[in-house]
Amino acid sequence: MRYDEDLLKEYFCEAPKDISLDDVDMARVPGHVSIIMDGNGRWATARGLDRSQGHVAGVDSLREAVTTSVRLGLDVLSVYAFSTENWKRPQKEVNLLMHLFATTLVHELPLFHQENVRLRFFGDLTALPVETREVFQKGLDETADHDGMTFALAVNYGSRAEIARAARELAAEVAAGERDADTIDADAVAGHLYTRGLPDPDLLIRTSGELRLSNYLLWQLAYSEFYVTPTLWPDFSRWDMLRAIKSYQSRERRFGGVK
Ligand code: IPE
Ligand code: IPE
Ligand code: MG
Repeated sequence: MRYDEDLLKEYFCEAPKDISLDDVDMARVPGHVSIIMDGNGRWATARGLDRSQGHVAGVDSLREAVTTSVRLGLDVLSVYAFSTENWKRPQKEVNLLMHLFATTLVHELPLFHQENVRLRFFGDLTALPVETREVFQKGLDETADHDGMTFALAVNYGSRAEIARAARELAAEVAAGERDADTIDADAVAGHLYTRGLPDPDLLIRTSGELRLSNYLLWQLAYSEFYVTPTLWPDFSRWDMLRAIKSYQSRERRFGGVK
């Protein structure tokens, strides 16, 4: 996607010593970056704070990640905000997160308008509190006409549940006589995932050092490049995004072929 050269330079003007905009080839910026935003709890605990304060601090990082992605001209930024397994957390933390999603979205709508960002969700939203669901719907409605970057928030998302759901939908089409089972190929499955219509992530970033996927985009990450940083999510900045993209640009993507 296109980016504004002047805004870009201004945004990245005060560079730290080890990384600057010059380290990135703007002609080869990944189209879709996806982030497993991890480490809010550890960030808070290390400061003697409640875990919830880590989540609140994480919102600032997310806002910056959205702006950074727009400045860099990404087509899609997707982020893992709440997994199907995160319901196992203490009720107080779950409630705080659900409330935070709703209030943050309302607060950030002007940013999405200003930056022409279209919102999308991955996950089963029917299980969310009604307040959160209503705000999410408002966000979808109000940004539906935007044709800039797509920002996708994975909430109550789990890859296994997503793939099972796709299988169920395809089976129902076959049972209804709408589809021949022989037509179920990879494209047909992809067309029934929450990510339908979007390109697969080119780059997956996970913060806070964990080397696992935690049930995130198992299908879509088949050929993505991975970048794991020890930086905790509330500390993740525009410069960390540049570091990740620089690393991405040093890789040789083969997709199973030879170069
Ligand atoms: C990620 O931070 C945010 C969510 C899962 C909602 P964590 O809350 O998992 O933070 P850590 O991993 O305990 O540090
Ligand atoms: C993955 O992080 C989920 C999100 C970032 C929303 P977790 O913190 O839940 O993952 P595990 O439990 O460390 O695998
Ligand atoms: Mg975690």
